[in-house]
Amino acid sequence: MALLPILHYPDPRLHTRASPVVEVDAEIRKLVDDMAETMRAAAGIGLAATQVNVHKRLIVLDVSEDQQHLQVFINPKLLSQDGSQERDEGCLSVPGIYDRVTRAEHIVVEALDREGRLFTLEADGLLATCVQHEMDHLEGKVFVEYLSQLKQNRIKTKLRKRARETL
Ligand code: NI
Repeated sequence: MALLPILHYPDPRLHTRASPVVEVDAEIRKLVDDMAETMRAAAGIGLAATQVNVHKRLIVLDVSEDQQHLQVFINPKLLSQDGSQERDEGCLSVPGIYDRVTRAEHIVVEALDREGRLFTLEADGLLATCVQHEMDHLEGKVFVEYLSQLKQNRIKTKLRKRARETL
């Protein structure tokens, strides 16, 4: 397995819309494993392929306490959503920034797993937030885009400054 470099906002590549995975083959399974390793190494609870500059519709999540319950969603599709919840979100592509985002409280999502099998999952609370956050990445959307323009500008300035300092 390998650690993959994570793109940082405001990298324009984060705004790429991902294409469907055509076949869940060995190459895709390797990507799943590398993404899982990358997410865990960064202490994240979710990662979309977009964030490692692979523009395919694939996300990995692990919202469990012990970080031993990986969930893989290939070509995820939202079948339904209802209710609303507000939660503090962060993102491995927006390090050190956390802010409130309102999303559906309850969702039903359909996807393929690591073996290419179709499954349907009902989720609420943190898991529902996480799935929606990661599915946004596949559309080229980063959570800070839900915040005010003023906040977005401040975050861009802060992260650009930090990127310069770490060069
Ligand atoms: Ni994210």
